[in-house]
Amino acid sequence: MTSPDGLNPGEAWLNDLVTTVSSTSDELAFYQRTAAGYDEIVKHLDVEAPDLCMKAICNFEQKTGVKIPRDGRVLDIGAGTGLSGAALKRNGFTGQVDALEPSTNMFQLAKPRKIYTEWFQELLLEDKETSIPSDCYDLAFSVSVFSDRSATSKCLPECIRILKPGGHLAIAMMKHFWARDFEDKVKHMEEENLARLVYDETLLEKYAKGHHGLVFILQKL
Ligand SMILES: C[S@@+](CC[C@H](N)C(=O)[O-])C[C@H]1O[C@@H](n2cnc3c(N)ncnc32)[C@H](O)[C@@H]1O
Repeated sequence: MTSPDGLNPGEAWLNDLVTTVSSTSDELAFYQRTAAGYDEIVKHLDVEAPDLCMKAICNFEQKTGVKIPRDGRVLDIGAGTGLSGAALKRNGFTGQVDALEPSTNMFQLAKPRKIYTEWFQELLLEDKETSIPSDCYDLAFSVSVFSDRSATSKCLPECIRILKPGGHLAIAMMKHFWARDFEDKVKHMEEENLARLVYDETLLEKYAKGHHGLVFILQKL
């Protein structure tokens, strides 16, 4: 099925997201409105980002000898309908997995997947802490959430705050956002001794139709 301008439903959804959404409130409204079709949309976009993010985590471990504990506590930031959490479980994470997801319509579809223990129905914001206590996660990970619209580079310090010292933050996002301001923000966090960049990997295929992805991993200092 294609739209009048020749886009399949996934491409039309993505086009709508990037051309009409420019703020946190727009983005929340967008996901509330489109939640019911989300799992089908990612199929139309050939998205394999959750498994690619897991693969990048394994590549990081192989290259560095670091092992992220599979029985540790994990936060899925922007958990959506649970596709990212499902990839975690498929890839051997057996510990408690919690979700940060502001959209009730998205998360209603995640619940039957029975992946998450705690649900923080909250937004990551640039200038406000979430209710999540400091220093409690071994791994926070986020797939297809960070951009320059809602969860921006300015939200990274909050994702570091909730990690245990030495814990890891793995983010998969569209690659073009890195050079826009994520790279500078990460350098700044390194200078402040908050975190260091320990790995990055470009995802060439199957991130989303026509777009390359990037996974980067930060370690809390
Ligand atoms: C493209 S979906 C990705 C869902 C899931 N991670 C996956 O891989 O399928 C993006 C999700 O991020 C959530 N989101 C958007 N802005 C957010 C923010 N500022 N803080 C937390 N979640 C946010 C949306 O509600 C949506 O469920």
